[in-house]
Amino acid sequence: MFLPQEVIRKKREGHELSSEEIAYFVKGITSGDMSDSQIAALAMAVFFQGMSNAETVSLTQSMTQSGDTIDWSELRNLGPVLDKHSTGGVGDKLSLMLAPIVAACGGYVPMISGRGLGHTGGTLDKLDAIPGYQTSIDINRLKSVTKTAGCAIVGQTGDLAPADKRFYAIRDITATVEAVPLITASILSKKLSAGLDRLVMDIKVGSGAFSGTLSMAEELAETIVSVANGAGLPTRALITDMDQVLGSSAGNALEVKEAWSYLSGEMKEERTDIITMSLCSELLILGELATTYDDAHHKIMTVLSNGKALEQFQKMISALGGPVDFCEKPDSYLKSATYCEDIYLDTSGYLASMDTREIGMAVVALGGGRSKPGQEIDHAVGFDHIAPLGTYVDSSCPVARIHANSKDQLARAKAQYLNGLSVADKMPNQQHPILKSLVS
Ligand code: URA
Repeated sequence: MFLPQEVIRKKREGHELSSEEIAYFVKGITSGDMSDSQIAALAMAVFFQGMSNAETVSLTQSMTQSGDTIDWSELRNLGPVLDKHSTGGVGDKLSLMLAPIVAACGGYVPMISGRGLGHTGGTLDKLDAIPGYQTSIDINRLKSVTKTAGCAIVGQTGDLAPADKRFYAIRDITATVEAVPLITASILSKKLSAGLDRLVMDIKVGSGAFSGTLSMAEELAETIVSVANGAGLPTRALITDMDQVLGSSAGNALEVKEAWSYLSGEMKEERTDIITMSLCSELLILGELATTYDDAHHKIMTVLSNGKALEQFQKMISALGGPVDFCEKPDSYLKSATYCEDIYLDTSGYLASMDTREIGMAVVALGGGRSKPGQEIDHAVGFDHIAPLGTYVDSSCPVARIHANSKDQLARAKAQYLNGLSVADKMPNQQHPILKSLVS
């Protein structure tokens, strides 16, 4: 018989908790026997004292067992069940491209995604820009859409990892999100209960990510890969750069359009292309759908050039209630904003840095993101034609184009965007978008 305060005290003093103590605490989180203050106290103790690998594994397992698990045995003889998870960034629309590409190469991708809060966008908010697309479906529908369309990007379904739902909500308001063992258990409990065969993690680092430093991103990547592999979910991780907006747009409908442009071959932003190709390759190799990186690249290029990846995107949209001809005429379905103008710096030079978080907050200032959970958002607003770092900008070369639905919001967001930039006389060194791979 344990007492919550004794478990908290033990962790506060820096001792290792047993798997029984962790299971007891997690059970109390799910049942409601633990109070919000006890949960917050344990989170803060872990934040300062950390957890051993064994404790992190126990926490992940207990949180996974707190609810349902999806059974994909029906699909397994057709192909592997694969997923990618990103720790979140600004302009990160990679899921919209990766899921149909991997599906077109023979994988099944049931991707359970989230909404945006604060400066990072959420994949579900981007998909909500497509009229009729349903992100809220039950497990049976998720299974049937995944089977027929090859991929389904939807919101939290069923009762997967309910302990995480409560624990995360408390961490979010008690400054205890940024603890590697808690992030690991939170992400992996959801992925393990989703019943996947293989996972690839995109761990962002930089001014627009919650891992601000490479060392924190490395610690998180190593912990996630080791705990996931230990729990029977073969996982690889890439650490990718979030010191600038990913791709050429930030804002929901604008990002859907950019994803469509990539899949249709109309436009490819270089950094987005590098990361998308790499994450898809890791998943194809992990899922035994490709033998080498060359083989994976060849398969991906084939489904992009023969239209199969775009076809899978359309199949997913149609199966989830969106327009059956969305990919033929996306502009007639995606809302556009009333005001649209190029924005310029009042100085010239090479773009040397971007405060990506500030740019994410400029999207929120336009109404395209949330400052409180549940807030309504405007899908039409944001930025596109975003000039990447290293671009020479002057009075004839804009840094981006802004889309707004009110003049006040436009003025505020424009100032915020421009404030987030700095220029230099010399071309700055370019950072490769992939900073590190953990593939063992
Ligand atoms: N994303 C999650 O799902 N959980 C965390 O703890 C942090 C990011």
